[in-house]
Amino acid sequence: MTMPIPVLTFFNNKSGVGKTSLVYHLAWMLSDIGYRVLACDLDPQANLTSMFINEERLEVLWPDSGARKTIYNALQPLLDGTGDIEPPHLENITHERLTQELSLIVGDLMLSSTEDELSSQWPECLDRRPRAFRVISALWRILQRAASDRQSNIVLVDVGPNLGALNRAVLVATDYVIVPLGADLFSLQGLRNLGPTLQEWRKGWQERRSRNPIPDLQMPNGLIQPIGYVVQQHGIRLERPIKAYDKWVNRMPAEYARNLLGNNKGPYAKTPAEDKENALATAKHYRSIVPMGQEARKPIFHLTTADGAIGSHAAAARTAYKDFRILSEKIIDRIGIRKA
Ligand SMILES: Nc1ncnc2c1ncn2[C@@H]1O[C@H](COP(=O)(O)OP(=O)(O)O)[C@@H](O)[C@H]1O
Ligand SMILES: [Mg+2]
Repeated sequence: MTMPIPVLTFFNNKSGVGKTSLVYHLAWMLSDIGYRVLACDLDPQANLTSMFINEERLEVLWPDSGARKTIYNALQPLLDGTGDIEPPHLENITHERLTQELSLIVGDLMLSSTEDELSSQWPECLDRRPRAFRVISALWRILQRAASDRQSNIVLVDVGPNLGALNRAVLVATDYVIVPLGADLFSLQGLRNLGPTLQEWRKGWQERRSRNPIPDLQMPNGLIQPIGYVVQQHGIRLERPIKAYDKWVNRMPAEYARNLLGNNKGPYAKTPAEDKENALATAKHYRSIVPMGQEARKPIFHLTTADGAIGSHAAAARTAYKDFRILSEKIIDRIGIRKA
């Protein structure tokens, strides 16, 4: 048995907090600085896929009829009851500035149709049913197989914003979690659902894992270890006073420590800036270079004058490079991965 490759998932049951953007930019940055990265789009909305891949190519990957080259196809024989998982199609992401291989497991709208099966197989694990273990571990096995084929150093996963059965299976397949947060009351209170839910899933899997009746079927550890949060500034409306932003944001360190780490005693940092332990970054509002990056299908920190990034835009792209580089290095540090 080979050593499992670490799986890092960006998770929050709220949308618009920058999950997909973070996965996209970190996948590029980690490749830039010499890591082999496998990115995986497990959100049925497939936003990550549309950031990486243009429409022309998407038509090939998602044909109107015939086999799609997506995560769904890798699951299909198992879901149909005709076999087990298949190795997924791996889309190579290429760019002259990449130093290491970056691959993508392509997302699929069909993924939402797996919710029912993932939901009904979860309790069946308690009864030691072989199929239940195949189904619940399927995503992890697909990720590991792909990552080991590509000799990836890390797997980055993007998910949709909910606490359903698909996301439970994704989190069971997850070693490390980063929680992107918006600067608002919803994000703050959301932590009170998120923390206990992750704990329940972690415990639920520990209860089940040892009941696996198939000796040669490798199971995920289901560590689901939170390694920090990232606060997004881009949600701030310009007319809103900065004090309103601070009010919510400064309560994040304590809420995160209580709910995600079970630290009810403190001491808690007073601001994210002081929260060396858990605040990984405060993501700046990158404004006009964001649409520029989407247009050019590049991370914002790769934008050049040819893409229209001149003057202050070029400066913003350079700042973004530094910010994402620092964030990547913190993540590497926390996970302890080594280069290819
Ligand atoms: N740092 C940022 N600066 C400016 N806009 C951003 C930033 N991060 C994300 N956005 C924009 O905010 C929107 C939501 O981000 P997204 O990554 O899709 O969030 P999620 O995946 O959590 O729903 C997108 O339109 C994205 O382009
Ligand atoms: Mg998203």
